[in-house]
Amino acid sequence: MNPVDLLTRREFVKGASAFGAISLIAWSGGCESCNIQNRPTRRNISNLAANDPVIQTYKAAVAAMKGLPSSDPRNWTQQANIHFNHCTHGNWFFLPWHRYYLLYFERICRKLTGDNNFALPYWNWTTHPAVPDVFWDTTSPLYDPNRGVTQADQADPSWVGAPVIQSILNEPNFNIFASGPPVGGQLHFATNTGILEGNPHNNIHGWMDSTDMGTFMSPLDPVFWTHHNMLDCLWVDWNINLGNANTNDPAWANQQFSDFFDENGNSVTITVIDSILLPLFVYQFEPCAPGETAQAQRRSKSELEKFLRAGAPSKFEYVKRFELAQALTVEVGKSATGSIKIEPEAFRSVLEGNKNLAVLTVSDVEIPVKRDYFVRVFLNKPDASAETSIEDPHYAGSFAFFFDEAAMKAHGMESATGERPKAGYLIDFTPTFRKLNQAGSLPSGQLDVSFVPVGYQHRETAGQSLTVGRIEAALARF
Ligand code: C2O
Repeated sequence: MNPVDLLTRREFVKGASAFGAISLIAWSGGCESCNIQNRPTRRNISNLAANDPVIQTYKAAVAAMKGLPSSDPRNWTQQANIHFNHCTHGNWFFLPWHRYYLLYFERICRKLTGDNNFALPYWNWTTHPAVPDVFWDTTSPLYDPNRGVTQADQADPSWVGAPVIQSILNEPNFNIFASGPPVGGQLHFATNTGILEGNPHNNIHGWMDSTDMGTFMSPLDPVFWTHHNMLDCLWVDWNINLGNANTNDPAWANQQFSDFFDENGNSVTITVIDSILLPLFVYQFEPCAPGETAQAQRRSKSELEKFLRAGAPSKFEYVKRFELAQALTVEVGKSATGSIKIEPEAFRSVLEGNKNLAVLTVSDVEIPVKRDYFVRVFLNKPDASAETSIEDPHYAGSFAFFFDEAAMKAHGMESATGERPKAGYLIDFTPTFRKLNQAGSLPSGQLDVSFVPVGYQHRETAGQSLTVGRIEAALARF
């Protein structure tokens, strides 16, 4: 055995102990030749030629899954049903749940094609905002006729543009970056949505719309897997490359899921804490974040492992909270403003240090029946409209809806009174506060929060509206 092999094996064993009794061979899904250094690299799908082996395997795997009997949990529709029945959204299980979902899917692709080095590619919508060409060949298993966009349409820069993704990656707090603890124990529907999920994630689903991507059966569109892979890559960048800690809350780390099936179709039970080590030992990414040149890991593997396992507190301690508990109805085509009485001095401390945050919570948002639009939020700019640039210093963020009435029914969650379910969103307005301070236009005794709905391409939005139940501006520490 040469020294490199030996080192790999040692690391391997250490890694294996980190995963408890489960060995990394098991985690890597049969890829025995893959040691940690050479773990498979998930690549940008737009850089791959149509005849690239990654594309060939992806196509063959999707075709094979479509060909399996529906009694097999690896069957294409059964895979989507896992999502329909168990997906977690709008809370801090969103990222780890989908990480595992992709991991097992990737392993199934390997098993069914015999391509043991296959790594699921990702759709980098920041550099390539249109749905990648390989998904538009109507004769390919990667084609889905149920899309509400065309090959020429581009995702909006306010969801996926480099400055927006950069600002999301600059978020120091896990709950705001990755979504926060579920409100009311509700795991499936968005009660506490952070900025990565609420903006690029929800908007890609909402914009692609139609009977697949706009619903909880969205994994029926092969684009889905590459969309979520991009989110996973950005989580890796935020967490591992940029060194931001995941929450150390045991309610997060110890959560288990039994929703997935491995490459042999056997049910598995996994724990959230183990998901955070996967990109360190089992797969890696070609750089996906704006300005990222390599998956630059500044620390050694063992230091990183320690850092990842430890996490850090993410819970807010509220220093001051100001709220407007008065419902606001926002019609598409108009904007609406809620004014919160605040003591602007309370927010001064966000000008220094990044453990003090100015947090905007938009909650009790009635999930609209028609969701052909997304919402931009501006502060102290009551005349903001759909034409106002997101480079305006008053811009604070955007959010959208990802919801499925059929899944709600299937979960028996229809309210007897016919009341709509409620969503909640977190926005860190610290950067906006700093910009307004620089411009000498800090809010005085009130903070105007304006909601500007913007319709998606090709969609009729006339008469659509949104009701926001509660807005809170708070100074929080974590
Ligand atoms: Cu669980 Cu993008 O969806």
